[in-house]
Amino acid sequence: MTDQALLQQAKEAMQRAHAPYSGYKVGAALLCADGSVYLGCNIENASYSLTNCAERTALFTAVAAGQRSFVALAVVGGQGGVINDFAYPCGACRQALSEFCGADFRVILGKDGGETKVTTLGELLPGAFRLASE
Ligand code: THU
Repeated sequence: MTDQALLQQAKEAMQRAHAPYSGYKVGAALLCADGSVYLGCNIENASYSLTNCAERTALFTAVAAGQRSFVALAVVGGQGGVINDFAYPCGACRQALSEFCGADFRVILGKDGGETKVTTLGELLPGAFRLASE
């Protein structure tokens, strides 16, 4: 699975965003260690704080399907689905990912026109919260 192919799947997932309040659509494609890919979109709610981000939609869908080992996540997003800038995962999604993914987990961002940026969870969330007992 190339980075470009994973980004393409994230773009397809973005088309399914439910974002009637912000108009900001996000898509995510999560690559599992077994090669399977789980997709997510943001799902907004009239009670705004109940909104679920695309990244966590993908992660929770994969975990609920029995997946536990992940290698990369592609994310795209933009107002009205126009991807002018890189859509970085929010802090909550970074912490959620850190439950299952290590510092070397790759995060692939893309823009319309083909520009991409690759970072890691370790770069995005140094010092992730962990229970002391673990
Ligand atoms: N959003 C995501 O889906 N992922 C993020 O990492 C940040 C924000 C969504 C939530 C909301 O529906 C919209 O983008 C605007 O905040």
